[in-house]
Amino acid sequence: MKRYIRKRYCGPEGLEVVNIPTPEPAEDEVLVKVQATSINPADSHTMRGTPYFYRLMLGVSRPKNPKLGADLSGIIEKVGANVNQWQVGDEVFSDILSVGAGAFGEYICVKQQHLVRKPNGISHQAAAAVPLAGITALQSVTSNGSLKPGQQVMIIGAGGGVGTFLVQLAKHYGAEVTAVCSTGKAEKVKMLGATEIIDYTREDYRNCQKAFDFIIDAVGNCSASTAKKLLKPNGTCLLIGWGGFGHLISYILYGWWIGLRTDRKISILTAQFSTADLSTLGSLIEAGAIVPVIDKIYSFKELPQAIAYQELGHSGGKVVVTLSNE
Ligand SMILES: NC(=O)c1ccc[n+]([C@@H]2O[C@H](COP(=O)([O-])OP(=O)(O)OC[C@H]3O[C@@H](n4cnc5c(N)ncnc54)[C@H](OP(=O)(O)O)[C@@H]3O)[C@@H](O)[C@H]2O)c1
Repeated sequence: MKRYIRKRYCGPEGLEVVNIPTPEPAEDEVLVKVQATSINPADSHTMRGTPYFYRLMLGVSRPKNPKLGADLSGIIEKVGANVNQWQVGDEVFSDILSVGAGAFGEYICVKQQHLVRKPNGISHQAAAAVPLAGITALQSVTSNGSLKPGQQVMIIGAGGGVGTFLVQLAKHYGAEVTAVCSTGKAEKVKMLGATEIIDYTREDYRNCQKAFDFIIDAVGNCSASTAKKLLKPNGTCLLIGWGGFGHLISYILYGWWIGLRTDRKISILTAQFSTADLSTLGSLIEAGAIVPVIDKIYSFKELPQAIAYQELGHSGGKVVVTLSNE
């Protein structure tokens, strides 16, 4: 089988394809034939070892684990002796970033409880677009208490992998969405459920005259003071995008001060993998409430180009890599 690895921290051009024996599942594992994977900014952070403090976990001078890749959709090819949840031929999807098994390979072994049934009626390519971005979006709109119908929500970075899920989920929970995106993404984002668009290439959302119950920043450029200005009393601003170390520190420090002195809440979300949340997303997809939005599909051979494209930071939905001929 083929797998992408990196022996040292590098850009996409430094990835190597290795030919290795197909792994055998342990007693509580299944062997999955990966049909599709998708690219996330987290893959770049892991590949490059940036921001540098990540290396305290990943390995200081070189990565401890050469494997990469979070999202996968695939078909179970073999099951371990103690596997009772799955059978050969079952279609599954997951985000395996936290277990480091590496979705950028033709086959992977995963513990049975880490997988979720792939939603019916969508391709593996569409399913692979869901896990990490979808779970982040779902946890964003359900953290701090779910969104309530009629609430005003601003989503910054609405046209991206996480943003396209955020718009649809906020709309699904009954919120009125003001989306911040670039000109080329405005139509698509409106179709996904935004009622108002702020085209950031023409106007600055910081000057918006409206007040919001909830701001979700999937870019990392909303300062705590801007959030304080744009939030309604009891409103919350949630930072999920990486806007650099300086932004993070000032957001935390000033956000803490704002939290003490006002009734606004300034908070940060780090998404955690959850099979329950992924199942919820699968059900919402099957019910037609949300759809995975795919920007581009690359072949397995083109995976480094897919990462390079994603790293430009202007994806219109998810960047998917297919290993099947769907
Ligand atoms: N906290 C967590 O647990 C967590 C989990 C997943 C992802 N993330 C982070 O969330 C961020 C978004 O991830 P993603 O997967 O959605 O990335 P993505 O697919 O690359 O999307 C980023 C989007 O932001 C838009 N954008 C860029 N500059 C903008 C600006 N100034 N104003 C508004 N929109 C702008 C881009 O397109 P246009 O410029 O063309 O509009 C693009 O659509 C990343 O920083 C990622 O690291 C965090």
